[in-house]
Amino acid sequence: MCGIFGYSGPRDVKETLLSGLKRLEYRGYDSAGIALNRGGEHRGGEFALYRSLGGVDELKKKLTELTGTAVENDKQTATLADVKNSDISTEYSYGIGHTRWATHGQVTEQNAHPHMSYDSALMLVHNGIIENYAELRDYIESKGITTRTETDSELLVHYISYCYHYLEEQESTAYDKRSNNIDRLVRAMSLASKKFIGSYAILLMCRYIPDTFFAQCEGAQLLISHGHDEVRISSDKNALFTAGASYIVLGDGELAIATRTDIRVQDRQEQQVVKTSQDLDEEFDVAEKGSYETYMLKEIYEHPRAVRQALTGRIHQADATAILNGFNFDMALLRSYRSVKLLSMGTSYYAAQIGATWLEAIAKIPASAEMAAEFVGREPVLDDVTLYIVISQSGETYDTLNAVKLIQQHGLKVYGICNVVGSRIGRMTDGGCYTHSGPEIAVASTKVMSGQMAILAALTLKIARVHTMSYARGQTLIDELEQIANHIDTMLNNQAIHHTIQELARQAIKASHLLFVGRGLSYYVAQEAALKFKELCYTHASAYSASELKHGPIALIDEYTPILIFAEEGPGRQKIFSTVQEVQARKGNVFLCGIQDHSLVDSTITLPYTEYYKTRNKGSVSDITFPFLHTVVAHLIAYYSAKIKGNNIDKPRNLAKSVTVE
Ligand code: M6R
Repeated sequence: MCGIFGYSGPRDVKETLLSGLKRLEYRGYDSAGIALNRGGEHRGGEFALYRSLGGVDELKKKLTELTGTAVENDKQTATLADVKNSDISTEYSYGIGHTRWATHGQVTEQNAHPHMSYDSALMLVHNGIIENYAELRDYIESKGITTRTETDSELLVHYISYCYHYLEEQESTAYDKRSNNIDRLVRAMSLASKKFIGSYAILLMCRYIPDTFFAQCEGAQLLISHGHDEVRISSDKNALFTAGASYIVLGDGELAIATRTDIRVQDRQEQQVVKTSQDLDEEFDVAEKGSYETYMLKEIYEHPRAVRQALTGRIHQADATAILNGFNFDMALLRSYRSVKLLSMGTSYYAAQIGATWLEAIAKIPASAEMAAEFVGREPVLDDVTLYIVISQSGETYDTLNAVKLIQQHGLKVYGICNVVGSRIGRMTDGGCYTHSGPEIAVASTKVMSGQMAILAALTLKIARVHTMSYARGQTLIDELEQIANHIDTMLNNQAIHHTIQELARQAIKASHLLFVGRGLSYYVAQEAALKFKELCYTHASAYSASELKHGPIALIDEYTPILIFAEEGPGRQKIFSTVQEVQARKGNVFLCGIQDHSLVDSTITLPYTEYYKTRNKGSVSDITFPFLHTVVAHLIAYYSAKIKGNNIDKPRNLAKSVTVE
């Protein structure tokens, strides 16, 4: 969702802010802005504010257009002198930037961040949602302060400034000494935050306090990297990009005062907190597109790697089991669980449904997957014999985090399967493991679903082995797990598959809606296929269980509605053929993905999973491999369809990479 980036240091501030924001773009955005500060007690400080609709490129264009002319100096930049753009790099020593994903207020330049306080002293960017914004607005307006935007974020900066002046009156000293200003501003932020209900990560700078950032978090995080005479603050590690530096994570209720040389952190009680730094080098793995046209295509090709990475070091051949040390399971604990509950959203939720099916069918333990938001919303009954696991690529999803909090509030443990190391879910959960799929930059999630499924398969093996699974069956499962990545590779390298999917895509984009159908595990892949198709193509798509079709959705079928059926060899084969016949009887245009015998299908799209079927021709709910293969096909269908339509593949409209709001 929104992204925050701040920089102070010897580099060109404007350029560094823009490249920092560029690395946040993948999170989703609709407008962007930066504010630069000359700062300084002697010169009185000066802000320069630039905002634009669209992304960082549009913002950059705007800045370039301003070269040699007076910088924007409207009512909101009231204190800005006629500074030439060419002066900026030399004159301005620090600044803050933001990519906005609209929640409160429309997508307009006015609503874009940064926002300036009514007294022109403070400039602020904000991630999150302030729930009591209406009450705050009334209060601020009752004090004679005019608001200029529809955002909740603007209210924060006014209110902090208001608190500052309140304290100033109490102490009857004006903005004069730097240390006083800093202390008072920190106290004003603390005071103000008592009135903020909701989630926020705030980054703020004061006109009168040179090269100093004020950062505050509640329900959202900020990372501060430090070293080489510079400081960077961001909501996302991707933007810190200074190899060799270290960083700290600012968490709930914490407030930091950060300069190039020093970071001071305090908690809600205004007590100093000693933070542990982490080495940025360890995770310095910023993805590049390489020779791929888009990040999404690159990431689809990384499905096999995601499976391998997830399983590396997690298979114990000799004992025919999985090693999942991060869960800290001991045998007794593992045996004590009576059921498993998997909680997540979106693509992670579909991976969870597949995992829950494996856990029941293979490990013989009752398991279910549920959308985290629905779980939290329905006042669930919780108990200590259920193994709770949340699953999230970003590790920042608000709804999933809420599930973590709810479970922990009941005094129970909750584990996590996350991709982003150091993310909030990664830190808040009581254990679990990282998928290690590498950074996922395209907004639509792809390869990490494979990483999640691989971990869930390993978990299934682990639990199965402490319950009923024999050593020999454990070995067979391991053999299968170890071949999955190779099967995906084979499939991705098969040009025939790409051609047939491209053909399908050409037909799919002509339709006004699409149906994806599956049975059992394939039903969950069908849901993922429909989600991805909607996300990328902006065309309606639904997913149905094959058994559900005749109970109503069959009414949708006509000659204009393409139906893609994910099916696999196995006991369900005959049932799927019945579904095909039912659909064809109503002139439905069927594409069959998976089963090798297409004699019943009019429009035959052959997806030859040949290598896989050569080695294994069973297929059942306990089959581990085919959901991985179907998932890659699902992602390729969305990819090629969006490509033919000419849509923005890496940044589809309206979407955000991390959904950090409710
Ligand atoms: O980061 P998470 O896995 O927690 O995200 C969950 C969903 O928001 C995410 O999968 C979303 O549905 C994506 N747009 C899917 O492409």
